[in-house]
Amino acid sequence: MLRRFVSVPRTLPLRATNVAAVRSHHIVGVHRDTKVNNQKTPFTFSDENKKEIEKILAKYPPQYKKGAIMPLLDLGQHQHGFCSIGVMNEVAKICEVPPMRVYEVASFYTMFQREPIGKCHVGVCTNIACMLHGAEDVFAAAKDFVKNNNADGYYSLEEVECSGACTNAPVAEVNNIYFEDLTSEGIVQVLKDFKQGKAVPGPYAGKRKSCEPEGEKTSLFGEKAFDVRTVTRTDI
Ligand code: FES
Repeated sequence: MLRRFVSVPRTLPLRATNVAAVRSHHIVGVHRDTKVNNQKTPFTFSDENKKEIEKILAKYPPQYKKGAIMPLLDLGQHQHGFCSIGVMNEVAKICEVPPMRVYEVASFYTMFQREPIGKCHVGVCTNIACMLHGAEDVFAAAKDFVKNNNADGYYSLEEVECSGACTNAPVAEVNNIYFEDLTSEGIVQVLKDFKQGKAVPGPYAGKRKSCEPEGEKTSLFGEKAFDVRTVTRTDI
Protein backbone atom coordinates (compact mmCIF):
# COMPACT_ATOMS: atom_id res chain seq x y z
CA MET A 1 0.00 0.00 0.00
CA LEU A 2 1.38 3.39 -0.88
CA ARG A 3 1.29 6.34 1.40
CA ARG A 4 -0.98 9.18 0.54
CA PHE A 5 0.15 12.57 1.63
CA VAL A 6 -2.41 15.26 2.22
CA SER A 7 -0.64 18.53 2.06
CA VAL A 8 -2.07 21.85 2.91
CA PRO A 9 0.82 24.05 1.97
CA ARG A 10 1.92 26.95 4.08
CA THR A 11 4.82 28.02 1.99
CA LEU A 12 4.90 25.61 -0.90
CA PRO A 13 3.31 26.98 -4.02
CA LEU A 14 2.12 23.53 -5.02
CA ARG A 15 -1.54 24.23 -4.35
CA ALA A 16 -3.20 27.51 -5.01
CA THR A 17 -5.83 27.15 -2.36
CA ASN A 18 -6.15 25.74 1.08
CA VAL A 19 -7.63 22.50 -0.15
CA ALA A 20 -6.31 19.24 1.15
CA ALA A 21 -5.09 17.24 -1.78
CA VAL A 22 -4.10 13.63 -2.03
CA ARG A 23 -0.82 12.97 -3.69
CA SER A 24 1.76 10.26 -3.64
CA HIS A 25 4.37 12.33 -1.88
CA HIS A 26 6.61 9.58 -0.68
CA ILE A 27 6.94 7.68 -3.91
CA VAL A 28 8.35 10.71 -5.65
CA GLY A 29 12.05 10.15 -5.21
CA VAL A 30 13.18 13.18 -7.15
CA HIS A 31 13.76 16.60 -5.70
CA ARG A 32 12.03 19.55 -7.34
CA ASP A 33 13.38 22.97 -6.53
CA THR A 34 10.88 25.32 -4.91
CA LYS A 35 11.26 28.78 -3.41
CA VAL A 36 11.77 27.35 0.04
CA ASN A 37 13.66 24.23 -0.84
CA ASN A 38 16.47 24.53 -3.35
CA GLN A 39 20.23 24.18 -3.53
CA LYS A 40 20.67 27.81 -2.55
CA THR A 41 18.42 27.72 0.51
CA PRO A 42 20.92 28.07 3.36
CA PHE A 43 21.02 25.64 6.24
CA THR A 44 23.51 25.16 9.03
CA PHE A 45 23.03 23.39 12.31
CA SER A 46 22.56 25.57 15.38
CA ASP A 47 25.36 25.75 17.95
CA GLU A 48 23.28 23.63 20.29
CA ASN A 49 22.78 20.98 17.64
CA LYS A 50 26.45 21.07 16.69
CA LYS A 51 27.21 19.90 20.21
CA GLU A 52 24.59 17.20 19.81
CA ILE A 53 26.19 16.14 16.53
CA GLU A 54 29.55 15.70 18.24
CA LYS A 55 27.89 13.35 20.72
CA ILE A 56 26.20 11.39 17.94
CA LEU A 57 29.36 11.08 15.84
CA ALA A 58 31.29 9.86 18.88
CA LYS A 59 29.17 6.69 18.77
CA TYR A 60 30.61 5.66 15.41
CA PRO A 61 34.15 4.81 14.31
CA PRO A 62 35.64 7.76 12.42
CA GLN A 63 35.60 5.82 9.14
CA TYR A 64 31.87 5.06 9.56
CA LYS A 65 30.46 8.52 10.06
CA LYS A 66 27.80 7.54 7.55
CA GLY A 67 26.17 5.55 10.36
CA ALA A 68 25.04 8.89 11.74
CA ILE A 69 23.05 9.88 8.65
CA MET A 70 19.66 9.04 10.14
CA PRO A 71 20.10 10.70 13.55
CA LEU A 72 21.54 13.79 11.88
CA LEU A 73 18.68 13.95 9.40
CA ASP A 74 16.29 13.71 12.32
CA LEU A 75 18.11 16.52 14.09
CA GLY A 76 18.04 18.64 10.95
CA GLN A 77 14.37 17.95 10.43
CA HIS A 78 13.56 19.05 13.96
CA GLN A 79 15.60 22.23 13.60
CA HIS A 80 14.46 23.20 10.13
CA GLY A 81 10.94 21.78 10.15
CA PHE A 82 11.60 19.38 7.30
CA CYS A 83 14.48 17.65 5.55
CA SER A 84 15.24 20.25 2.92
CA ILE A 85 17.89 19.68 0.29
CA GLY A 86 20.03 22.04 2.39
CA VAL A 87 19.63 19.81 5.45
CA MET A 88 20.53 16.74 3.43
CA ASN A 89 23.59 18.40 1.89
CA GLU A 90 24.81 19.52 5.29
CA VAL A 91 24.38 16.02 6.69
CA ALA A 92 26.31 14.62 3.72
CA LYS A 93 29.13 17.08 4.40
CA ILE A 94 29.32 16.14 8.07
CA CYS A 95 29.14 12.41 7.39
CA GLU A 96 31.66 12.74 4.57
CA VAL A 97 29.55 10.93 2.00
CA PRO A 98 28.27 11.97 -1.44
CA PRO A 99 24.95 13.87 -1.07
CA MET A 100 23.23 11.11 -3.06
CA ARG A 101 23.81 8.68 -0.18
CA VAL A 102 21.82 10.98 2.10
CA TYR A 103 19.11 11.61 -0.49
CA GLU A 104 18.68 7.84 -0.78
CA VAL A 105 18.14 7.47 2.97
CA ALA A 106 15.82 10.47 3.27
CA SER A 107 13.68 9.38 0.35
CA PHE A 108 13.45 5.78 1.58
CA TYR A 109 12.32 6.37 5.15
CA THR A 110 8.93 7.97 5.30
CA MET A 111 9.53 9.69 8.63
CA PHE A 112 11.78 12.12 6.81
CA GLN A 113 9.65 14.86 5.33
CA ARG A 114 11.30 16.34 2.27
CA GLU A 115 8.73 19.08 1.86
CA PRO A 116 7.39 21.61 4.39
CA ILE A 117 4.77 20.27 6.75
CA GLY A 118 2.40 21.91 9.20
CA LYS A 119 3.30 22.60 12.82
CA CYS A 120 0.89 19.81 13.58
CA HIS A 121 1.75 16.90 11.32
CA VAL A 122 -0.69 14.03 11.49
CA GLY A 123 -0.09 10.50 10.28
CA VAL A 124 -3.15 8.27 10.30
CA CYS A 125 -2.34 4.56 10.12
CA THR A 126 -4.54 2.63 7.72
CA ASN A 127 -2.68 -0.65 7.78
CA ILE A 128 -4.49 -3.92 8.44
CA ALA A 129 -5.32 -3.75 12.18
CA CYS A 130 -6.29 -0.10 11.99
CA MET A 131 -8.20 -0.63 8.75
CA LEU A 132 -10.26 -3.40 10.39
CA HIS A 133 -11.10 -0.98 13.20
CA GLY A 134 -12.31 1.83 10.99
CA ALA A 135 -9.13 3.69 10.07
CA GLU A 136 -10.51 4.64 6.67
CA ASP A 137 -13.24 6.62 8.42
CA VAL A 138 -10.70 8.14 10.79
CA PHE A 139 -8.54 9.21 7.86
CA ALA A 140 -11.54 10.62 6.00
CA ALA A 141 -12.60 12.61 9.07
CA ALA A 142 -9.07 13.95 9.56
CA LYS A 143 -8.85 14.90 5.92
CA ASP A 144 -12.17 16.66 6.04
CA PHE A 145 -11.20 18.54 9.20
CA VAL A 146 -7.85 19.64 7.78
CA LYS A 147 -9.49 20.70 4.56
CA ASN A 148 -11.89 22.98 6.37
CA ASN A 149 -9.78 24.25 9.27
CA ASN A 150 -6.41 25.08 7.92
CA ALA A 151 -6.34 28.69 6.80
CA ASP A 152 -3.07 29.15 8.71
CA GLY A 153 -1.50 25.95 7.44
CA TYR A 154 -1.19 24.63 10.97
CA TYR A 155 -2.05 21.07 9.98
CA SER A 156 -0.64 18.63 7.47
CA LEU A 157 -1.85 15.10 7.10
CA GLU A 158 -0.62 11.85 5.65
CA GLU A 159 -1.69 8.24 5.58
CA VAL A 160 0.95 5.97 7.07
CA GLU A 161 1.72 2.30 7.34
CA CYS A 162 1.68 0.34 10.61
CA SER A 163 2.68 2.62 13.46
CA GLY A 164 3.42 -0.35 15.69
CA ALA A 165 0.54 0.23 18.09
CA CYS A 166 -1.93 -2.24 16.55
CA THR A 167 -3.33 -3.29 19.94
CA ASN A 168 -4.86 0.15 20.19
CA ALA A 169 -5.98 0.46 16.58
CA PRO A 170 -6.91 2.75 14.95
CA VAL A 171 -3.94 4.93 15.66
CA ALA A 172 -2.69 8.34 14.57
CA GLU A 173 0.65 9.98 15.26
CA VAL A 174 0.62 13.71 15.76
CA ASN A 175 4.14 15.11 15.78
CA ASN A 176 5.27 11.60 16.74
CA ILE A 177 2.90 11.47 19.73
CA TYR A 178 0.48 8.55 19.60
CA PHE A 179 -3.28 8.85 19.86
CA GLU A 180 -5.09 5.54 19.97
CA ASP A 181 -8.47 3.82 19.87
CA LEU A 182 -9.59 6.58 17.56
CA THR A 183 -12.94 7.16 15.97
CA SER A 184 -13.95 9.75 13.39
CA GLU A 185 -15.04 12.04 16.22
CA GLY A 186 -11.94 11.17 18.23
CA ILE A 187 -9.44 12.27 15.59
CA VAL A 188 -11.27 15.55 15.11
CA GLN A 189 -11.16 16.11 18.86
CA VAL A 190 -7.44 15.28 18.91
CA LEU A 191 -6.74 17.83 16.19
CA LYS A 192 -8.75 20.52 17.95
CA ASP A 193 -7.16 19.71 21.31
CA PHE A 194 -3.67 19.66 19.85
CA LYS A 195 -3.99 23.21 18.65
CA GLN A 196 -5.08 24.29 22.09
CA GLY A 197 -2.21 22.41 23.71
CA LYS A 198 -4.47 20.09 25.65
CA ALA A 199 -4.37 16.86 23.66
CA VAL A 200 -3.74 13.86 25.90
CA PRO A 201 -1.74 11.04 24.29
CA GLY A 202 -2.84 7.42 24.50
CA PRO A 203 -6.26 5.77 24.11
CA TYR A 204 -8.78 8.42 23.18
CA ALA A 205 -12.16 6.80 23.43
CA GLY A 206 -11.95 6.55 27.22
CA LYS A 207 -12.66 2.84 27.04
CA ARG A 208 -9.32 1.76 28.45
CA LYS A 209 -6.22 3.13 30.08
CA SER A 210 -3.61 1.28 28.11
CA CYS A 211 -3.68 -1.82 25.91
CA GLU A 212 -5.77 -4.07 28.15
CA PRO A 213 -8.62 -5.98 26.44
CA GLU A 214 -11.58 -3.79 25.51
CA GLY A 215 -14.11 -6.30 26.82
CA GLU A 216 -13.96 -9.71 28.49
CA LYS A 217 -10.72 -11.62 28.43
CA THR A 218 -10.47 -14.09 25.57
CA SER A 219 -7.16 -15.65 26.62
CA LEU A 220 -4.66 -15.80 29.49
CA PHE A 221 -7.29 -16.84 32.01
CA GLY A 222 -4.82 -18.31 34.49
CA GLU A 223 -4.04 -16.50 37.68
CA LYS A 224 -0.33 -16.90 37.15
CA ALA A 225 1.61 -15.78 34.17
CA PHE A 226 2.33 -18.71 31.84
CA ASP A 227 5.84 -20.04 32.37
CA VAL A 228 7.22 -20.47 28.87
CA ARG A 229 10.03 -22.67 30.20
CA THR A 230 7.55 -25.51 30.67
CA VAL A 231 7.21 -25.94 26.92
CA THR A 232 10.62 -24.93 25.63
CA ARG A 233 13.95 -26.72 25.53
CA THR A 234 16.17 -26.02 28.47
CA ASP A 235 19.38 -26.22 26.48
CA ILE A 236 18.76 -23.20 24.29
S1 FES B 1 -1.88 -1.47 11.76
FE1 FES B 1 -2.11 0.51 12.59
S2 FES B 1 -0.71 0.51 14.20
FE2 FES B 1 -0.40 -1.40 13.32
